Amino acid sequence: MKPGCEYRIRPFVDADHSWAAALLTEYWGSCVIATRGRLVDAMSLPALVAVDGGGDECVGLVTYEMRGDECEIVTLNSLRPREGVGRALLTAVMGRAREAGASRVWLITTNDNVPAIRFYQGAGFRIVAIHRDAVTAARRLKPEIPLFGEGGTPIKDEIELELKVGL
Ligand SMILES: CC(C)(COP(=O)(O)OP(=O)(O)OC[C@H]1O[C@@H](n2cnc3c(N)ncnc32)[C@H](O)[C@@H]1OP(=O)(O)O)[C@@H](O)C(=O)NCCC(=O)NCCS
Repeated sequence: MKPGCEYRIRPFVDADHSWAAALLTEYWGSCVIATRGRLVDAMSLPALVAVDGGGDECVGLVTYEMRGDECEIVTLNSLRPREGVGRALLTAVMGRAREAGASRVWLITTNDNVPAIRFYQGAGFRIVAIHRDAVTAARRLKPEIPLFGEGGTPIKDEIELELKVGL
């Protein structure tokens, strides 16, 4: 947490439902997320919420899925850019993954999302695959995925990043 920024990470509770659904819909076009050729309802997954320390304001959300010995971060949103909220949510998920016995935490982002790629690499994640044209294919499952992202970059490829648990 950065000096002057106060917030805490807590488990998702039922009262977060409408806030979280609105956030996911605004940012990801829907609560249903396309990842590696499948659709996942993020609202059905375990989630953690970052809450402003001075009140009840929710300032970040991460949803994740444990499958076998892997943990996939399905969505991660910070509403307080560059204040450490994203890193705190990520650290909390790594802790959950470790407790659950996962060997790796991984996620998909898209080729236009340079800030996220920087964010994850700064936390020790490595790019382990570039799935060329996977987003083009995912648009058949989820037509609301935009054609263009940051700076007008065509969104085409899925970038897979991972961090081995315990490293
Ligand atoms: C990516 C995201 C989660 C980062 O959240 P955040 O709260 O701003 O991140 P933090 O403040 O914890 O940043 C930690 C570090 O990540 C890096 N980083 C974060 N945002 C960055 C940006 N826009 N550009 C470059 N580096 C960035 C920096 O190294 C930063 O440390 P610093 O501020 O001391 O330089 C946030 O930008 C976001 O919600 N993006 C939209 C949703 C998204 O793309 N999610 C990721 C894919 S699931």
